[in-house]
Amino acid sequence: MRSLQALAEKLSCPSCSGRVQAQKQSLHCQSCSAVFPIWGDFPWVFAQADEWKADWVQRFRFYLQHLHQEIQNLKMEGKLPDLLAKTKERLQHLIQAKTEQHRELEKLFEPLLLGKGPGYEQQLAAGTPLPDSQQLMGYYGNILRDWGWGDEENKLALDLLTGILGPNPLGTLLVLGTGPSRLAYDLHRALGGKDTIALDVNPFYLLVAERMLAGRNLMLHDFPIAPIDAKAFASKVKCRAPDAIKEGFQFLMADAMNPCFQSASIDTLLTPWLIDIVPQDFRSFAKKLNRILKPGARWLNFGSTVFHHRLQHMCYSREEIPDILQENGFYVMHVEETQLPYLRSPSSCQQRTEKVFTFLARKVAEVEVDAPFTPIPDWLNDPEMAIPLQADIQQQVIVNFTLTQVLAQVDGQRNLRQIAEIMAPNFDLPVTDVIPMLKRIFSRYIEGRSRSMNF
Ligand SMILES: C[S@@+](CC[C@H](N)C(=O)[O-])C[C@H]1O[C@@H](n2cnc3c(N)ncnc32)[C@H](O)[C@@H]1O
Repeated sequence: MRSLQALAEKLSCPSCSGRVQAQKQSLHCQSCSAVFPIWGDFPWVFAQADEWKADWVQRFRFYLQHLHQEIQNLKMEGKLPDLLAKTKERLQHLIQAKTEQHRELEKLFEPLLLGKGPGYEQQLAAGTPLPDSQQLMGYYGNILRDWGWGDEENKLALDLLTGILGPNPLGTLLVLGTGPSRLAYDLHRALGGKDTIALDVNPFYLLVAERMLAGRNLMLHDFPIAPIDAKAFASKVKCRAPDAIKEGFQFLMADAMNPCFQSASIDTLLTPWLIDIVPQDFRSFAKKLNRILKPGARWLNFGSTVFHHRLQHMCYSREEIPDILQENGFYVMHVEETQLPYLRSPSSCQQRTEKVFTFLARKVAEVEVDAPFTPIPDWLNDPEMAIPLQADIQQQVIVNFTLTQVLAQVDGQRNLRQIAEIMAPNFDLPVTDVIPMLKRIFSRYIEGRSRSMNF
């Protein structure tokens, strides 16, 4: 593995931008003395590394508890009267698969020392409100695609990207949002990479990738949404890399949106399936990436362009992307759209295809970088700052007030019609019209409760 010292030389402190130095089992900032621990064999370079770890450990625990709960529920279902013999067999197969999955993941998460924590119900109460891009299991299918389902998709991606990059040496390759890291691994091997840094914000994928690069197996299960037959409800998948990588590859837990690298420190940047899932405006993200690249360095992007920001002006079309690159100090060398198979589980009836968007750009000018991105508004970080009165907050007050008014009528005695009679003057509607409205309000409340469970 690449030495920590060599990585440290490229890093800058996420708190104060100071230089980072390697110590025995951690990195630390030379200016503000912030410590960046090594957990799971990779450094966690965040201003509050402890908080990040605590948060992920909680999600791991919660996920394992949830898996355990699913197994108990399946066992109960298996006792229902009048089940078909084949149904019983399918349930038994699922119980077996989920039990094995639980065991394997518990072992995988061990380096993060899960220990005992809050119970399942307490975790349910706390909930875990996360952006979609940072959910523990959000890209689980990518693990199986990268290391378990065979080489077809991985080879197509590698051939496309090596064709575009050409034979030029990669120098220091930084992969942002590397996930389970097959592409980073393949490029490192195919182009004689000497110095690859694979960065992600989710330690689950890094733990998997680390094990793959060490040449070890992982036995996982595929639980496809549309199984092709009874056995395919849960198929065992052996995940393994073709060969181990011993040198020049370093994993890093850090936030791609505020990359913790020194200015002009990276030769080649890869953003695979990332630019449209981060909550930062791509125009601002491009500036941040420009800063860390050396003059003349290349940025290769590969993946979808399904930006899903709340504000439409940030949901860029493919036509807008080259303009954004140009305004941010890049010369666009190549743009390509390629139809590719995508996350095709051999156990699934669904076989998706994606028109993938690839560009290669070269840094030709410096640009001024925006303030660090935080998905949390400043007034949440600063208790002294006035909270701006936004239209959506005002709207939410009315939404919540309406919900509270309705729920407050529940006293264990009243039925829907009686509550509708009480609420009718507030809604300015006849009772008959209020009843379907109450049905929708209560249904949304019930759905909302079950939606709050994610990891
Ligand atoms: C769509 S997946 C793609 C994974 C991988 N590149 C691939 O092609 O399979 C997006 C990846 O970006 C990571 N990610 C999301 N937000 C991130 C952030 N702010 N910093 C670093 N990684 C992030 C996710 O954890 C996930 O691994």
